[in-house]
Amino acid sequence: MNFEEVLKTRKSIRKYKKKAVSKATIGRLVNAARLAPSSHNVQPWHFIVVSGKSKEKVVKVLEKASLNKKEMLFIRMILKPAIEIIRKAPLVILIFSKDHLKEKLSKFTKYFGKNSGEWKKVVEDASDWTTQSTSCAIQNMLLEAHSMGLGGVWLGITLSQKATLQKIFKTKNNFQGIVTVGYPDERPKKTKRYSISEVLSYYD
Ligand SMILES: Cc1cc2nc3c(=O)[nH]c(=O)nc-3n(C[C@H](O)[C@H](O)[C@H](O)COP(=O)(O)O)c2cc1C
Repeated sequence: MNFEEVLKTRKSIRKYKKKAVSKATIGRLVNAARLAPSSHNVQPWHFIVVSGKSKEKVVKVLEKASLNKKEMLFIRMILKPAIEIIRKAPLVILIFSKDHLKEKLSKFTKYFGKNSGEWKKVVEDASDWTTQSTSCAIQNMLLEAHSMGLGGVWLGITLSQKATLQKIFKTKNNFQGIVTVGYPDERPKKTKRYSISEVLSYYD
């Protein structure tokens, strides 16, 4: 598949064949991810593949939240199908990002004297850059999966359980979501896209 085709035919895949994804394939996916651009080239991403008991733990956390009346109805509603996708997916990847760019930059705050307020704003933006960089890595991974005949979906709703999942995996890294991957067992309809003219403006 050439790059144009990969872009045009990729779809979010939520149903998978009962076929395992090999470690070599996981390696290729993570390789694609790690080649992504990142702010100041800090490469903030970290990927945790869960299976067995670890996967059960993740599912349990999400299930508990989906049944918890204190959670927003919207979250509970979107979590339910996500849990089913995760349960049946041959490959489940938790994505984390390290905020070390923020940490690095915040060390310079003291040198900015009366301008330290502005610098603090830059430091705050660094968290966004980290998330944006990690998103680039995730997209690389999804495109690589598709180009290899696999399919995947980014389950952003899992972000609602960020604190609990970080606790379980004993990490201060920012949880960014879950990506599931497998051999497609569905051919989803094309999802609509805005036309070029709807999303493009020229200012002179
Ligand atoms: C940041 C992000 C979060 C997403 N979260 C979810 C999710 O929680 N559940 C889900 O089923 N799909 C999720 N998706 C997939 C989108 O629904 C999907 O990309 C969109 O509908 C367009 O369809 P396509 O990917 O097939 O082109 C997410 C996608 C992105 C980029």
